[in-house]
Amino acid sequence: MNDFRAEILHLKKERRAVILAHYYQESEIQDLADFLGDSLALAQAAQRTDADVIAFCGVHFMAETAKILNPERTVVIPDLNAGCSLAASCPAPLLAQWKQEHPDHKIISYINCTAEVKALSDIICTSSNAKKVVESFPQDQKLLFAPDKNLGEWLIDQTGRHMDLWPGACHVHVAFHAEKILESKLAHPNALFICHPECEENVRFHADYIGSTSALLKFIEENTATAFIVGTEPGIIHQMKKKAPHKTYIEAPFAAERACACNACPYMKLNTLEKLHACLETLSPQIEMNEELRHRASLPLKRMLALA
Ligand code: 13P
Ligand code: SF4
Repeated sequence: MNDFRAEILHLKKERRAVILAHYYQESEIQDLADFLGDSLALAQAAQRTDADVIAFCGVHFMAETAKILNPERTVVIPDLNAGCSLAASCPAPLLAQWKQEHPDHKIISYINCTAEVKALSDIICTSSNAKKVVESFPQDQKLLFAPDKNLGEWLIDQTGRHMDLWPGACHVHVAFHAEKILESKLAHPNALFICHPECEENVRFHADYIGSTSALLKFIEENTATAFIVGTEPGIIHQMKKKAPHKTYIEAPFAAERACACNACPYMKLNTLEKLHACLETLSPQIEMNEELRHRASLPLKRMLALA
């Protein structure tokens, strides 16, 4: 078997590349990355880098965000098919129509969306800074929130602000099953249930803590509990075990009718070490974008990054 790890490190030097990876990536990719983070931290890292090449181990909208912020750099992704069900739930022409129907509203879009949707938005947010972004608008400003209705509902609870919500969702996070989570809590009475705000309301209802991937990692490290039922993509458990190895992590149960026997994000898992090696070797597939679209999509993203 090829020693992809050694070859990737060699190619990385040769190409003057930086490897950015999300917490949902396979553990061997996480271990090789120069920078690991949630969507906000990855966008900030992409903004800071001076590498010639960004190898983005995450899903398409994340690599696209890196390209929007770095038009002069080469951005490659191990598998161009690494999409996102949430981004797919909001086609730009439909969002444009929604925007037209609400001329006196501002649009906040979750970063899990296409460049075309970003270009139609007033500001972008991630699950790490969404509350701050909502609160940056004056109280009397009418707001539309796209595309994740679950994150939107959670933000309405958190801020007390009314927002009209786009009916999109992440197919990974809506698969968690409220009754089974209750059963899991009963079976592990010392464990806290923690989840991502992309989970549905009936699941969030049982949560002891809700937050972005980086917030969940901080929570398991700082909280005195020694066991956690984890309601997000299980790739994150690799980092949890690194940060607090003496604690126990239980994958939150999901609906029985799921096609696979796990709750992995099938898009995130399309990236492999082999494909990362190939994309550094061939510098493809690359994220390409027309300059006019890139410029329009960069404005709401930069507004978000300026807030942070
Ligand atoms: P975070 O920004 O919390 O890492 O979320 C990204 C994501 O895709 C969640 O499904
Ligand atoms: Fe998209 Fe859901 Fe996968 Fe996150 S877990 S990348 S929101 S499909």
